[in-house]
Amino acid sequence: MEPGARSIVLWLGASPSTTLRGALSERGLQLKRVNEKALTRSYPRARGLIVAFEGNVGEFVGRIRRNWKDALNHGLTVGTVCDQRANLLDFGRVQGALPKIPVHRLIPISQDWTRIAQLFDRHDPGPGAEKPLRLLAIPKVLSEEEKLLLKRGFADCTLLRLKLLKGGRSGAKLLLAHPVEQKKSAHRRRTMPCVIKLDDRDRIAGEVANFSQFMEGCVPFNSRPNVDRLRGAEGSSAAMLVQDFVHRAIPLLDALKIGSPALFIASLFECALKGCRSGVTPMHGGLVAELYRLRVLNWSKDLDDAATFAQAHLGAKRSPKALERRLGALGTSDFLRCTVHGDLNPGNIFVASASSDTILIDFYKTELGPAISDPAALEVSIAFPAGDKAFSPAEERKIAALYAPPLSHSASGDLSAKDWWRRETIRAIRVHALAMEPRAKSPTKPTPYSIAVACYLLRFASYADNLPRRRRALAYTLAEKLLG
Ligand SMILES: Nc1ncnc2c1ncn2[C@@H]1O[C@H](COP(=O)(O)OP(=O)(O)O)[C@@H](O)[C@H]1O
Ligand SMILES: [Mg+2]
Repeated sequence: MEPGARSIVLWLGASPSTTLRGALSERGLQLKRVNEKALTRSYPRARGLIVAFEGNVGEFVGRIRRNWKDALNHGLTVGTVCDQRANLLDFGRVQGALPKIPVHRLIPISQDWTRIAQLFDRHDPGPGAEKPLRLLAIPKVLSEEEKLLLKRGFADCTLLRLKLLKGGRSGAKLLLAHPVEQKKSAHRRRTMPCVIKLDDRDRIAGEVANFSQFMEGCVPFNSRPNVDRLRGAEGSSAAMLVQDFVHRAIPLLDALKIGSPALFIASLFECALKGCRSGVTPMHGGLVAELYRLRVLNWSKDLDDAATFAQAHLGAKRSPKALERRLGALGTSDFLRCTVHGDLNPGNIFVASASSDTILIDFYKTELGPAISDPAALEVSIAFPAGDKAFSPAEERKIAALYAPPLSHSASGDLSAKDWWRRETIRAIRVHALAMEPRAKSPTKPTPYSIAVACYLLRFASYADNLPRRRRALAYTLAEKLLG
């Protein structure tokens, strides 16, 4: 067991099982009786908590309700057992009154002490928040649970400086963390600045799993941050992902405006995402169903609102319901399937300074999907930035020209000189998208890429925080045209 490993299983009750004590001790673990007042103090060195049912229903349920969240926030797993002197039937009945503890942090009820010991042994609680860690510049938005996650993940440090990062889309809290002082006893030197993502427990677990399953082995090491799994921590409702800070890099949008869009886009699709995009599988099937599976389409009230505006002011003819039917009637298409980033937008792409190398972050939505979905998402996010000032009528016409079907990489929307980079970027994205699109069989049906772009335009139109409303309505109108 590693130095400082958490080897104690706490027993909240009068008489700890001697059989369990033996089974734990064979695994290098220790069973320790504890009273409720001393629990919080004991958590940093513990990996598990057992609450014993001793016959009094109210007392048992109360003990669990009062303590399970705190135990989980400290990284423990929780088990409930029936004391030898209590009635097993009563114990069975009480279970329904217990709080819903996440199953992966709950030891299932059993009389098999060896199995229980095994499950505590397998549970990895990560480091405990044992010694004081001083947090500098703690952002006000952090909850007590999140502060505790920081103290656990950075238990090897004595001083940590924090800074809130802005720019995320998901509502997760992003922090830049500088370990200022590490403990002398720390057995791993880890002093590089890193980025901490704090979010809902399941979302973080999903992002870490996607990173391991899809990105770690497909995106070269210099095109993405690494995840520091030893610093990751999970609480009762939140969790923390720790990754390398992408240093000496500028956001993609800044690079596009001053550099060569074709070069950056080639670096993105031909280097950073090459490993994903080279492993394609030809498919013949429902492209729209695939886009639904990626949760691209969102038939919201906000979309109805954009559609009403589009019908009143921009010449749109059909309702969202009619477009939904049109999408449903498109039938099957030939397309290629591969690992997709799933949320390709300029906020998730950096360019390393003094180079054209692109670096990707944010793997929450990564999975298998149509190869055209990443370029479609990226071009729509470039053509339709949220929250900017309104397009002028001339700009609107030019954007509309870029989206006149059929979509091609020679499309020149003739944007103003100040917006040349936008047109060049969209052109470059389409070169990579269309190169991977099988030849269309029917000249009347929209091409797979047009369908994907239309779906991302509808997605843009479907969220009210994509301001201004007129821009959402324009996206809706263009999507309608693309779908024919
Ligand atoms: N590894 C990192 N290095 C530098 N900045 C980062 C890193 N991860 C996130 N950021 C910054 O935080 C923002 C939000 O992070 P992101 O993971 O995209 O969150 P969200 O899922 O909320 O979009 C990014 O746009 C970027 O500016
Ligand atoms: Mg993001």
